[in-house]
Amino acid sequence: MLETEVGGLRLDNPLMPASGILGGKENAMEYLAKRAKIGALVTKSITPEPRKGYDPPIVVSTPCGLVNAVGLSNPGKKALRRLVEVGKKFNLPVIVSIAGKDENEFQEVAWEAVDVGASALELNLSCPHAKGMGLEIGMDIKMVKRITEAVATTVDVPVFVKLGYVDRLVETASKALEAGASGLTLINTLRAMVIDVDVMKPVLSNKVGGLSGRAIHPIAVRAIYDVYKETKAPIIGVGGVYEWRDAVELILAGASAVQIGTALVDKGPRVFSEVSAGIAWWLKEKGFKNIKETVGIAVE
Ligand SMILES: Cc1cc2nc3c(=O)[nH]c(=O)nc-3n(C[C@H](O)[C@H](O)[C@H](O)COP(=O)(O)O)c2cc1C
Repeated sequence: MLETEVGGLRLDNPLMPASGILGGKENAMEYLAKRAKIGALVTKSITPEPRKGYDPPIVVSTPCGLVNAVGLSNPGKKALRRLVEVGKKFNLPVIVSIAGKDENEFQEVAWEAVDVGASALELNLSCPHAKGMGLEIGMDIKMVKRITEAVATTVDVPVFVKLGYVDRLVETASKALEAGASGLTLINTLRAMVIDVDVMKPVLSNKVGGLSGRAIHPIAVRAIYDVYKETKAPIIGVGGVYEWRDAVELILAGASAVQIGTALVDKGPRVFSEVSAGIAWWLKEKGFKNIKETVGIAVE
């Protein structure tokens, strides 16, 4: 009942961790795979070379979510084999998330990921706090096209382009699909800041970070709705999912699978079994046989 398919990727369960939440080491992925009901694993965004990231503080908690500026710290492409092995061990597909500054860097990581057995790729074109990467690329439609094309036309696994909430989101998403993306992951964190009133300065060492969690959920619903309405693209939805209702909202707006980030930090691995059970109950209650029947129903 909970099986789904998104952009050519078959999943036994629609839920998976959002990129970055488990950090860049395989032991956290293993910890989750052992304990949670998930359909896939997703890696931290990987760059060709290892990156240290920003100095602490890199994450700050607010009443409505987290603001983080980790700075894309990651172990680099050499760690990919170890990360992908975790999926093989637990019989779970692994989506490798990739970050970089141009199409060559994206290709470099993409090809290595495919070589070591990645099931799919997610191109991070939306990190809001890494200079010359992420959102700076995602806001440039020509770059989105160039990077997507460079990867999608040279690999034989599904490629998802992860976008944040940019002004011309539908146009950007359409360009990524035209360039060969199998689907989209929507959305990333939104640029935000927290100021410490005692020291009267921004808390994060990078000053600006990305807001995730409950506050961004309705924004994710709208982003997915708008893009699905225009493109009918396969979408992995992400943003502020805490309860099964949140996941179902993303599905009704057009998502075929759902990632969970901040709620995993807050609630631990049990969030996946709670949300899974809730979705299954809702499907039965409404008389649906599977998730695919319900994707985008709210979209008019
Ligand atoms: C600490 C932290 C690290 C993150 N690292 C990444 C990353 O490496 N790549 C990426 O695409 N998104 C990254 N994200 C964004 C999440 O994958 C997700 O898009 C976002 O947090 C919204 O989902 P949520 O509200 O369920 O957390 C990170 C988020 C957090 C909180």
